[in-house]
Amino acid sequence: MNTDIIKINNIVDDKEKINEAAKKIKNGGIVAFPTETVYGLGADALNEEAVKKIFIAKGRPQDNPLIVHVASKNIDGLVEDTSNIAKNLIDKFWPGPLTLILKKKPIIPNITSANLDTIGIRMPDNEIALKLIEMSGTVIAAPSANISGRPSPTDVERCIEDLSGRVDCILGGHKSDIGLESTILDCTVNPPLVLRPGGVTLEMLREVDNRIDIDPAVMKKSTNDLKPKAPGMKYRHYAPKAKVKIILGERKKTIEKMKEMVDYYIDNNKKVCILTVQENEKEYEKGIKVVLGSRENLFMVAQNLFESLRKCDDLGADIILAEAYEQKGVGIAIMNRLNKAAGFDIIEV
Ligand code: TXA
Ligand code: MG
Repeated sequence: MNTDIIKINNIVDDKEKINEAAKKIKNGGIVAFPTETVYGLGADALNEEAVKKIFIAKGRPQDNPLIVHVASKNIDGLVEDTSNIAKNLIDKFWPGPLTLILKKKPIIPNITSANLDTIGIRMPDNEIALKLIEMSGTVIAAPSANISGRPSPTDVERCIEDLSGRVDCILGGHKSDIGLESTILDCTVNPPLVLRPGGVTLEMLREVDNRIDIDPAVMKKSTNDLKPKAPGMKYRHYAPKAKVKIILGERKKTIEKMKEMVDYYIDNNKKVCILTVQENEKEYEKGIKVVLGSRENLFMVAQNLFESLRKCDDLGADIILAEAYEQKGVGIAIMNRLNKAAGFDIIEV
């Protein structure tokens, strides 16, 4: 398939270019586009044939439902009566990295919701995404724009790497601000339950309803008794090609253990990458250091996480050793993605 690559500088000068991509959506094509969380791969959410193409292009399991992206806070045409809590959340956090799970109306085809009677829905905080949705005259179903299982792309080059030749168009904007996928909140239960942590943190959600909690299965390895409620959370996800191991403990012990492991792997002729932060960078003499940001600003760490995992692959790493983060604020989302990338291979020190 021939993939048009269209780079957008701003939505005023490049309106016609966005319109070209919107026409492709209208005509049943699939288009990758920027959002504030990660890049998405979109199709007309109401067109079954178009949505089918997303699953094929990504190699995505059919039992994994898609998120519907809207350009307006009024979603009455798509979902059954929204509760007061959902309305408050929409008011406070949209546009932004919060997906709400709500009861769907029949207009949403079964392929989009993977045969569930609910739908994930969000309004992205990215002007290119919002223009694209508006101009397509529909709502856009979009998973992250990666090949299934790989870390989500946070810039246009990574989209091109994964999807060139597989999609009709790639619309390029700037690097994603958040860098991790949206927080998913199930609003079909009372109190609502976080199914996937993200940029809208638990602390932020609790300002709206202090009873909100996180699905207990999300931070643990899934077992028969403990399965995550979001279908997509059960897959080994966000995984680079290299083996990832997490070292968890207080700072000094973590660094000591990391150094010992680096030596061991180098002695065994392995290429080792260390995912670290500015504060610790100088402590490591051997191994390839990849700095995610500072522990003082976990949003920066989140923004760089997926790109750094992909960079380790580019560097030819066999092993990636990652320091753990405090499970607070966006640290919960960071640890969720790292845990999954590592297949829960965590070394406690
Ligand atoms: O930030 C994001 O959410 C990005 C951008 C592109 O918007 N999208 C994204 O989509 O991360 P995806 O497909 O990679 O992840 C969607 C997740 C999956 O884990 C899926 O199982 C869950 O949302 N999900 C979707 N609809 C659901 C539903 N009705 N009930 C429970 N989980 C649902
Ligand atoms: Mg994804």
